[in-house]
Amino acid sequence: MIILNNVSFSYDKGKEILHDINLHIRKGEKTALIGANGAGKSTLIKALVGLISVTGSIAVSGMEVSRKNLAAIRQKTGLVLQNSDNQMFMPTVYDDMRFGPLNYGISGEETERRIDEVLEKLEISSLKNRQNHKLSGGEKKMASIATILVMDPDTVIMDEPCSSLDPYNRRKVINIIKSLDKTLLIASHDLDMILETCERTLIMKDGRIVADGQTKELLKNRELLENNRLELPLKYQL
Ligand SMILES: Nc1ncnc2c1ncn2[C@@H]1O[C@H](COP(=O)(O)OP(=O)(O)O)[C@@H](O)[C@H]1O
Ligand SMILES: [Mg+2]
Repeated sequence: MIILNNVSFSYDKGKEILHDINLHIRKGEKTALIGANGAGKSTLIKALVGLISVTGSIAVSGMEVSRKNLAAIRQKTGLVLQNSDNQMFMPTVYDDMRFGPLNYGISGEETERRIDEVLEKLEISSLKNRQNHKLSGGEKKMASIATILVMDPDTVIMDEPCSSLDPYNRRKVINIIKSLDKTLLIASHDLDMILETCERTLIMKDGRIVADGQTKELLKNRELLENNRLELPLKYQL
């Protein structure tokens, strides 16, 4: 469902940010991507949806990531951006939620049904007609997750889904992630959330995947985490 073969990338000539990454994530697998600031997590995510073009090859949701497939890739692959301001670009939450489905030919009636269903699931029906620029950071984050779920993608990629959420909303998002029957890749520093939601974890350092294994094994390994500027989840500190 997500396959990378020999993927390398530089923003500017000279400094390579991703170094020869090989990765295979199976359909339905929930995988975490962790690592220090600047490790390359967001860059890797941008590559997966074709926002940057890399050397090597990438396939997501059963399609090669290439210019001619970008529209189809984005229909099947939902990306929750770290900064929701870059995700919500229409006047209201409702407008943003309609944009994707209508753009991809889902009927108006079905779109309305999905919008109400997703808003209810996220318990944010009250945000439906609110103006995006007046939402708080956490409200905007919840709304940006809604715009992705309403597309019903096969693969969901999230860059810091719980940042700026209060504990109640964080818990809600964790439960929703757990209930999603989709291929999932989550980049986050919230290792307790990762422990609950992802069976597999990848650790990135300086543009390389330096560890790949079962979350509950890797996140117990204090030395491995500290070598990668991470620390034990609270659950394991007690
Ligand atoms: N648009 C850009 N132009 C040049 N360098 C960038 C750009 N975006 C990120 N970088 C650099 O790429 C490296 C990896 O960044 P990023 O993928 O955002 O890391 P992470 O998400 O793991 O914190 C960092 O050194 C960062 O400064
Ligand atoms: Mg990042």
